Amino acid sequence: MQAPTHRIGPEDLVPMVAATLAGETDLIANMANIAALVFEALPDLNWAGFYLWKDGMLVLGPFQGRVACTRIAPGRGVCGTVARGRRTQIVPDVHAFPGHIACDAASAAEIVVPVLHGERLVGVLDVDSPCRNRFTPSDQHRLEQVVALLVARITP
Ligand code: SME
Repeated sequence: MQAPTHRIGPEDLVPMVAATLAGETDLIANMANIAALVFEALPDLNWAGFYLWKDGMLVLGPFQGRVACTRIAPGRGVCGTVARGRRTQIVPDVHAFPGHIACDAASAAEIVVPVLHGERLVGVLDVDSPCRNRFTPSDQHRLEQVVALLVARITP
């Protein structure tokens, strides 16, 4: 068998998520594959995954990376801030973010995208990097497109 000549890159992320989610509506299965694709397609990450909004809390969902904290209260850390504010947040330096929750000490930068099904908060997509200033508006655009594909598969 020939070794693969091409690793997937950022430009592959949205088309690969679209292809992978086609025909599947299970939220957890789709989140698991998105976590794997994000982790593989975007360079310099140490964590990528979801927290699900359950009974007024964020609870750890499918992810790639090291063991993470299981519950985050609204308003706490970057994820809890996004759960409350419902807008994507890019944090260039997590050590300068008041209340940042350090699950993996290697994390230096973070982007968190809310997962909204209409008005309903489903959870957040959290992506961490060991490199400060790692996340750009084009990462934000791609990850928001990924979340839009996920939400489009949710049946009412
Ligand atoms: N750093 C996040 C917590 C989740 S972990 O990074 C996986 C935060 O401040 O919300």
